[in-house]
Amino acid sequence: MASATAIAHPNIALIKYWGVQDDALNLPASGSLSMTLDGLETRTMVTFDKALSEDTLELDGQTASHEATARASAHLDRIRHMARSVVPARVVSRNSFPTSAGIASSASGFAALTLAAATALGLDLPPKDLSILARKGSGSAARSIFGGFAEWHKGEDDQSSFAKQIWPPEHWKLVDWIAVVDRNPKSTGSHDGHRLASTSPFQEARVASAPQRLAECRSALMARDFQRLAAVVELDSHMMHAVMMTSFPPLLYWSAGSIQLMKKIAGWRADGLDVCYTLDAGPTVHCITTAEHSSQVEALLRSDTGVLELFRGIPGPPAHLVAS
Ligand code: PMV
Repeated sequence: MASATAIAHPNIALIKYWGVQDDALNLPASGSLSMTLDGLETRTMVTFDKALSEDTLELDGQTASHEATARASAHLDRIRHMARSVVPARVVSRNSFPTSAGIASSASGFAALTLAAATALGLDLPPKDLSILARKGSGSAARSIFGGFAEWHKGEDDQSSFAKQIWPPEHWKLVDWIAVVDRNPKSTGSHDGHRLASTSPFQEARVASAPQRLAECRSALMARDFQRLAAVVELDSHMMHAVMMTSFPPLLYWSAGSIQLMKKIAGWRADGLDVCYTLDAGPTVHCITTAEHSSQVEALLRSDTGVLELFRGIPGPPAHLVAS
């Protein structure tokens, strides 16, 4: 039996990945840039055991669905293939955050699974190779291999599409207050959503202008210029949601509570607070703020009756191994 345990953190994309240029390899239509979130984590133990007849997956104490197990198993096959192994695995994975939070666990989940499985099979892979592998499980997982701020260059083939750290966590102590405004499960997951992006007439324009937004985001982060960061982060979120809404069939991830909170946040910023928002494939609002303004933003969010639950993420570490 060979076993390893890894912890990985989710990330919030400041510049989003939406849409694929290659389905099989999971190559993104455009580059993306994110902040890895400490305060939230997935812990995954992988044990390769010849006594098993097939792969098993336990998620948060429950046997996972057939679909989730098949997706993890397909990912394990990629890693087994590299290690020339055929041994089945037992995967036990736990998120520190509830699924009701609407925080995508696929980024932290596939980053932790990749690192734990590769290590258990004796593959000593550099972060770049881990990122390439994690990408094939879930695109955003390519970024969760790294801590701090990470950029995923879209690349044009399997070996050129991976993320890199662009700044360590200490670079800028931003805070992501994750505001749950709706507990209804989303109807279309990101895996299927990516495949619809090209049906939107706006996707071409979004992809064509992504390099400019990436450059602006990098430059705002470099200068720690919150106003510039806010403008490009909100623009990029709106552009992704515009593509989602105009896909066929359309994807409308925002709920009434999301829109109400977005408007409030814009007002708080106009009143002088460093705060902006970004939304992934769901109604949850990520409120990005600075360490200086974090407690004021927290107080506003806690007193807002539309906010059902609140989680805090700060720039965090890369995926790493821990004792089982
Ligand atoms: O990695 P996936 O397939 O779960 O896609 C993530 C998509 C977004 O969260 C909406 C954007 C992003 O870049 O993280």
